[in-house]
Amino acid sequence: MPRHVAIIMDGNGRWATRRGLPRIAGHQAGTENIRRITYKAAELGIQYLTLWAFSTENWRRPREEVEGILQILSEAIVRETGELHRNGAQLRHIGSLEGLDPELQRQIRDAIELTKKNDRIVLTIAFNYGGRAELIQAIRRMIEDRIPPEQVTEELVDSYLYTAGMPEPDLIIRTSGELRTSNFLLWQAAYAEYYFTPTLWPDFTPEELEQAITDYQQRERRFGGLCASPPSDSDR
Ligand code: IPE
Ligand code: IPE
Ligand code: MG
Repeated sequence: MPRHVAIIMDGNGRWATRRGLPRIAGHQAGTENIRRITYKAAELGIQYLTLWAFSTENWRRPREEVEGILQILSEAIVRETGELHRNGAQLRHIGSLEGLDPELQRQIRDAIELTKKNDRIVLTIAFNYGGRAELIQAIRRMIEDRIPPEQVTEELVDSYLYTAGMPEPDLIIRTSGELRTSNFLLWQAAYAEYYFTPTLWPDFTPEELEQAITDYQQRERRFGGLCASPPSDSDR
């Protein structure tokens, strides 16, 4: 079983357009899908599930769409946190909270605080997340901390990322048929396995999650070596 599965939840807009609905209806349907996929992931024994909801580049969209997405997220936090908490999910956030409405920032912080001791599944929402922005904030903080060059190691860089303390993603799923990463987990995905599907995110079912995992389980991960074992610190 992959320990950490990350999903690029793409295709909400097309899902709505194909039904003759406004794009925002797709974001609503996509957000509703988070619950069923999270519970399936927990049932399967996945320890970390990371879902990308909004990228640092998504601010380029029309203001109306951006505001709609922010509103839907805020409502979802209020609606879902209690049940996620009762089911043992620990909520986390990766990305920047800067520039978000203070009320939304507070809702996110409260949900993280409430669920921080849960250990059934770690559900990380990547919101206002971009891989390059993450690396830039890491480099800036390393410079501020006056880290000497010889102390810059992979472990040190890891510790400055938003994902500090989390295992790397084993499997990254992207829905909607796009074959690109669009700036997701640039550093962490170095040895992730990818699963691309044409299914649009609101139509992505728990059964397809299982299918993606079955597919993953048939792959041979070599990490640059000749056999399927993850690198140990002594290889470095
Ligand atoms: C993914 O769906 C959600 C966000 C990026 C916020 P899209 O909104 O990108 O949907 P498509 O790709 O236009 O269909
Ligand atoms: C990536 O999807 C971001 C999220 C799913 C949150 P986009 O729809 O923004 O990616 P591009 O623009 O097609 O590369
Ligand atoms: Mg898209």
